[in-house]
Amino acid sequence: MDIGTPHSPTATRVMVLGSGELGKELIISLQRLGVETIAVDRYANAPGHQVAHRTHVIAMTDAAALRRLIEQERPQIIVPEMEAIATDVLVDVERDGLAAVMPSARAARLTMDREAIRRLATETLGLPTAPYRFAESLAGLKAAIAGGIGYPCIVKPVMSSSGRGQTVVRNAKEVAQAWQYAESTARVRGSHVIVEGFIDFDYEITLLTVRARGQDGAIATQFCAPIGHRQINGAYVESWQPQPMSRIALKAARDIASRVTAELGGCGVFGVELFIKGRDVWFSEVSPRPHDTGMVTLCTQPQSEFDLHARAMLGLPVDTRIASPGASSAIYGGTEARGIRYEGVADALRVPGSDLRLFGKPESYKRRRMGIALARGDDIAKARARAGECARRVLLRA
Ligand SMILES: Nc1ncnc2c1ncn2[C@@H]1O[C@H](COP(=O)(O)OP(=O)(O)OP(=O)(O)O)[C@@H](O)[C@H]1O
Ligand SMILES: [Mg+2]
Repeated sequence: MDIGTPHSPTATRVMVLGSGELGKELIISLQRLGVETIAVDRYANAPGHQVAHRTHVIAMTDAAALRRLIEQERPQIIVPEMEAIATDVLVDVERDGLAAVMPSARAARLTMDREAIRRLATETLGLPTAPYRFAESLAGLKAAIAGGIGYPCIVKPVMSSSGRGQTVVRNAKEVAQAWQYAESTARVRGSHVIVEGFIDFDYEITLLTVRARGQDGAIATQFCAPIGHRQINGAYVESWQPQPMSRIALKAARDIASRVTAELGGCGVFGVELFIKGRDVWFSEVSPRPHDTGMVTLCTQPQSEFDLHARAMLGLPVDTRIASPGASSAIYGGTEARGIRYEGVADALRVPGSDLRLFGKPESYKRRRMGIALARGDDIAKARARAGECARRVLLRA
């Protein structure tokens, strides 16, 4: 695709729906390629707003408001950068030829709902996943667990992300509380839950999978080196790349990733989440966009996951190679305040091979990610130690 000039009639306009830290990095990658960027989020001064040509604050779950904004801005490309979006509007916009949705409206719609993507993975594609059932009431949840899921298991709202509303349930006494927690945080009140058997995996990975057009115009699938990560309560605390894997497990992981991304279609980066135990690989879920654990690629790859997503959506060539082992370590708010200060930044950056991304979110919450530390190293142990140390030296003050 040719690229025009921002603020002129030839501009190549990309609208990014969701302007958190991932949206911000994507916008920076697009800016470098001369794209006119339009950042949208539900609150003002979101990280992505701070680096875009134009900004808007709307409820992206409001179908009418979203449609109006798209008609007003007339972007050629729309990128959903988060899950909580009125995705039916994107389906209509794509069908009406108003704009291209990246990687596709179908991918955005199916992946915002755990039920849709799980059924697609198992029933349509026959991929291995944890055993699962859906429940619409506490009684139904109890019946699902008794009927075969057993303990331990995990209860999740069907529409949620970042571990919100999720509980690991170890015995019958904990079921009612898990149900209530899922209900209380569900994006859509009264919607149902998925209960999954607990997979006792050796490790879990994000396999960044890129669908991009080659010189012949055909879409080819490429993979980044696997990213290992550690989650606490469904939120990622650190990630590293490359995660060592046996050749057999890596092949199985790539096979699952190429099948699920081919089914979702379009061009772009997908974060395919997989659990691995020995030679066995289970599909967990997929984001049709850069993944939070993939921020490590900002220090490991010549083309980060954001560069790759930008290039793929613009029809440009991609290079998924890794240049150095590296790690990322999340910096959480730990405090509730507006306009916080990051202290110790100079000290943190004295850690060899380190770097920081401070997101600039207007408000900090205890469990809100406010920044990440990045570090390279000769091996992942060294890189993880450095990233962890760098993150620890940054102190958030109210
Ligand atoms: N069936 C399972 N067995 C074992 N661990 C699990 C299972 N499901 C989820 N987990 C753990 O919980 C984490 C979060 O789960 P999941 O990815 O489904 O939630 P999420 O809310 O979509 O999180 P995110 O949006 O951050 O990806 C997983 O990365 C994994 O560590
Ligand atoms: Mg996940």
